[in-house]
Amino acid sequence: MKILDYIKRIGSVKTELVYKIPKNAIKPPISERLVFKEINASNLQSLERLRNKEVINRFEEFIARGERGFFVLYNGEVVAHGWLIFNPSQPRKVCDYFNLPAASGFIHYCYVDTRFRGKGIYKYLLSEMSNYYYENSEGTLYIDTNINNLPAQRAILSTGGIFIFKLTIWRFLGKNVLIIKR
Ligand SMILES: CC(C)(COP(=O)(O)OP(=O)(O)OC[C@H]1O[C@@H](n2cnc3c(N)ncnc32)[C@H](O)[C@@H]1OP(=O)(O)O)[C@@H](O)C(=O)NCCC(=O)NCCS
Repeated sequence: MKILDYIKRIGSVKTELVYKIPKNAIKPPISERLVFKEINASNLQSLERLRNKEVINRFEEFIARGERGFFVLYNGEVVAHGWLIFNPSQPRKVCDYFNLPAASGFIHYCYVDTRFRGKGIYKYLLSEMSNYYYENSEGTLYIDTNINNLPAQRAILSTGGIFIFKLTIWRFLGKNVLIIKR
């Protein structure tokens, strides 16, 4: 058995595409019909219509870690969410694998209700999260998505995202090995 096949059997591998999201991200036409709101302790339960209790518990952990969460309303209904990590000072690892530089932000854990996909709601969410980030920070905003996630890649590019590198994460024996290809 080849060494790579063996590593795959005892561990896992995934490839992410990493982008910068610029200031003044492009908004899709649907924007006028949507409302963007920040998640807080008092409105968190309204997301239970969109995600299960396990996910809501994870949101509580994100809030406790100081992350900013956002949701989108379409005709008054919660249809999407996303999370934003601010990293003003020291470089640090986030989401267990991503080395976030100092003076940067990272968008992660985004989701759109299956019934409302393909309407530009993710693009709207990304553009609003980008505005929020750059209104509150001087840094650079990053996002990644899986190499197989074509809707996310297209939405990120339509929003003005700039591809910077491909990140392959080999995980085995509880450790990550990262390979960056520019
Ligand atoms: C990825 C996800 C957030 C996209 O949400 P969405 O609201 O449907 O996205 P949008 O409508 O804003 O944009 C989708 C883009 O992908 C395109 N698209 C839609 N389905 C597609 C498909 N099957 N293959 C390729 N492209 C597709 C759309 O045409 C649009 O691109 P365009 O701007 O070039 O026209 C949604 O599918 C989702 O929640 N997936 C599960 C969670 C997830 O993957 N989150 C990770 C995000 S990094």
